[in-house]
Amino acid sequence: MKFHLKKGGDVKVLMSFKETESVEKFNDLFSFLKNKEIFKGDAGEVYSQISHEGDSVVFLGLGEEEKLEYETLRKSFFSLGNELQKKKVKSIGLSVPKFGDRCYGKTNKAISEGLLQSQYDFDKYKSEKKPKVLLEDVYLDIVSGEDEKVESVIKETQMVMDGVFLTRNLVNEPAMNLYPEVLAKEAVDKLTPVGVDVKVLGQKEIENLRMEAFLSVARGSSKEPKFIIMTYMGNPDSKEKLALVGKGLTYDSGGYSLKPAAGMATMHSDMAGSASVIGAMYAIASNKLKKNVVAIVAACENMVSGDAYKTGDIIGSMSGKTIEVENTDAEGRLTLADALWYASTVEKADKIVDLATLTGACVVALGSVNTGAIANDEKLMKDVSIAAGLAGEPVWQLPNNEDYKELFKSHFADLKNTGGRSAGAITAGMFLQEFVNDTPWVHLDIAGTAFIDKAAGYLPKGASGVPVKTLFYLAKDIEQN
Ligand code: BES
Ligand code: MN
Ligand code: ZN
Repeated sequence: MKFHLKKGGDVKVLMSFKETESVEKFNDLFSFLKNKEIFKGDAGEVYSQISHEGDSVVFLGLGEEEKLEYETLRKSFFSLGNELQKKKVKSIGLSVPKFGDRCYGKTNKAISEGLLQSQYDFDKYKSEKKPKVLLEDVYLDIVSGEDEKVESVIKETQMVMDGVFLTRNLVNEPAMNLYPEVLAKEAVDKLTPVGVDVKVLGQKEIENLRMEAFLSVARGSSKEPKFIIMTYMGNPDSKEKLALVGKGLTYDSGGYSLKPAAGMATMHSDMAGSASVIGAMYAIASNKLKKNVVAIVAACENMVSGDAYKTGDIIGSMSGKTIEVENTDAEGRLTLADALWYASTVEKADKIVDLATLTGACVVALGSVNTGAIANDEKLMKDVSIAAGLAGEPVWQLPNNEDYKELFKSHFADLKNTGGRSAGAITAGMFLQEFVNDTPWVHLDIAGTAFIDKAAGYLPKGASGVPVKTLFYLAKDIEQN
């Protein structure tokens, strides 16, 4: 899809609020539709009249003017994109007004994002692909003097959406075709060209780092684990470095604490955290953000075999802390324990955000709307919340009072890897907190939000790409957004 900042396009798109009574062109048709309540101007409502005579028009509803949010624009333009695809429209023109005191850059960002969102489809495994006519040219008639800003905002949005789509593709890929080695290769292939240095460590090197917790989880699989370090130095003069740590279970069977069939069905998505950091690194590096960001992934499969780790095992970790394995299905926190320790001690990151499809408990608590968060630093938590707000990817902070620690103390080891049935999302997050070494840290539990069982607004069924946009806005200075 190409955006042109000038008048043009085959089909005119006219936005209308519920209150709008007349439009400049096509007013006869507009008044007729409004009077008959055929088109009311509800948010996301689309009425199209496509004709061969060059007077094609599409009305797009935006709801009540007072209530207009950037999310309304994203959703409405997503609906528009879908309708245009159905009508096989390849080129549109619209004029973008300044809506009250709303930011003009963010308005254009939301419009372009909504249109781009409508073009995602994971159909590589369909033998009969739906014929698709995609929107190719979008002519935006923008407020004068805003060209430079709008141009840069749209470029940024396109690259961020490429990152989101990359993440979705990785998460949707079945585990038979995407295992640690493949994930690592994807990181190399997609990130090296945009200026990210990607290092991949195998079994021997991981052993040398003494990542015993990570290696214990990986033991049951015939696929070699990979530890992936992706470094982007956008500001080499600065010592600051943000670490993004993503859970990378390319498959989670539960291990000997085997999952029931229903729970196991979509566990190829248990690497959504790692896919998110790869997508975010793509967005960050291709936009050439002046920031230093390192992304870290401990990738493996959680399987059963004669050599798999067992319940009751007491394992070590890179940090030196010992962990009693009460449930082999609580594997994510074990892999992350070593990845987080690495981020804080070897990388010496001064801020860490981890992303993980960590607990079913988080899905029970927050569903697929909010990502759950646990933090040891309120400033970083605030920055993440602001970034999430900009992205339209809601995050809800959960408490982490010291008292919860009782739940995952072990009688024979330093910690145990489960905290029982109560406060499951909290104890999992707080287990991770034990391995960040007091580095300012936020944990995002994306178990409910990264992979969804039905489409929601512009998020498709399956991999949603959440929270790639949040990570991008976080890496970019909050003030610069
Ligand atoms: N990958 C799962 C969590 C999950 C559940 C992600 C549903 C997406 C959807 C994780 O490894 C897991 O199995 N967690 C256990 C922890 C428990 C054994 C303490 C869970 O949530 O049941
Ligand atoms: Mn598990
Ligand atoms: Zn898991």
